[in-house]
Amino acid sequence: MIQPHGGKLINRTVTKDQLPEDAPVLTLNEREKNDLEMISCGAMSPLEGFMTGADYNSVVESMRLQNGIVWSLPVVFSMKNEDPVVSVGDTVLLKYEDQVRGMMEIRDIFSADLMHEARETLLTDDDGHPGVQYLKTLSGRYIGGRISALDHRDEEPFRKHRLIPEETRALFREKGWKSIVAFQTRNPIHRAHEYLQKVSLEMVDGLLIHPLVGATKADDIPADVRMQCYETILEKYYPADRTALSVFPAAMRYAGPREAIFHALLRKNYGCTHFIVGRDHAGVGDYYGTFDAQVIFENFTAEEIDIIPLKFEHAFFCNKCGGMATARTCPHTGADRVFLSGKKVRAMLIDGILPPPEFTRPEIAQILMEAAAK
Ligand code: ADX
Repeated sequence: MIQPHGGKLINRTVTKDQLPEDAPVLTLNEREKNDLEMISCGAMSPLEGFMTGADYNSVVESMRLQNGIVWSLPVVFSMKNEDPVVSVGDTVLLKYEDQVRGMMEIRDIFSADLMHEARETLLTDDDGHPGVQYLKTLSGRYIGGRISALDHRDEEPFRKHRLIPEETRALFREKGWKSIVAFQTRNPIHRAHEYLQKVSLEMVDGLLIHPLVGATKADDIPADVRMQCYETILEKYYPADRTALSVFPAAMRYAGPREAIFHALLRKNYGCTHFIVGRDHAGVGDYYGTFDAQVIFENFTAEEIDIIPLKFEHAFFCNKCGGMATARTCPHTGADRVFLSGKKVRAMLIDGILPPPEFTRPEIAQILMEAAAK
């Protein structure tokens, strides 16, 4: 089985009686709540907590933790206006919407230049970028330190699909899969996704469909609708013995290339050996080049990333080929190819027009249409 990133699977889960009874309480925002769950279950191994200034600066400047291990995006806790005054050395409770979720042993409190962070990690400081908009809501003071967290999965959605790395690893072992490809997604499944997954499945033992269900921007399709699409399509079009569905409870950063590295490393922690990176992975608007999220892997050796990126060109349905293809396999022209932007599909659904079967399976189009009508 593939080694976790940094060599050891972290587990920072505790029970209620292991939390201090009386300690200052700091407030988690939605992304930080997601990160707390991801760190504590080991999905973000080797991280054991929110980053200190040394790790944060090293990650922002050079995509490595201070100890040299590759890590492409900050995982930080931001000080809030309403929070009590705290100091290095304090142990604090962390709450989300009035519910205690865990604790942090504070090791560092530091200031950050948030627009510098934006330019380095998101490659823009433009207000139109959702990641920049998020950073602009923060105070510019970060608090770092080791965390411990309660297992809140029973109260979270998609419980039966909310497998932690230890559990996906056990599942792969049980199924006898040696090579497993992970598929990251924040959108409802369409034919191009299915093509990438199935081409990959020709080469590996198992497929982990791993939809991101943490915080996303307001106009992304809600996770429950996306999960309904996945459950429906798996039943009808996928080999049950070679496919697994589990959720990835991280927040979406829309960081394009740097997020592709981040997504890949975290899937390694879940036990996957291969990771699909298609066109404009984790992109938004026109902020990234179509294949920048593939090129960025060249900055690192295969050994230090370890999970293998499976890179795909833009996939589409070609009317002349009569099937899914990419420019690598299809000789025809644009006019023969079915291209629909997310924007166009949303407009069709709102107008009550079903997207064509060349773009998405009819069962999925139906679910999306019903969701759009609500
Ligand atoms: S993402 O933000 O999670 O990357 P999305 O769910 O749309 O968004 O994409 C999931 C994966 O499929 C990404 O690796 C993306 O690059 C890839 N992808 C999506 N559509 C296509 C397409 N038409 N051709 C090739 N790759 C695609």
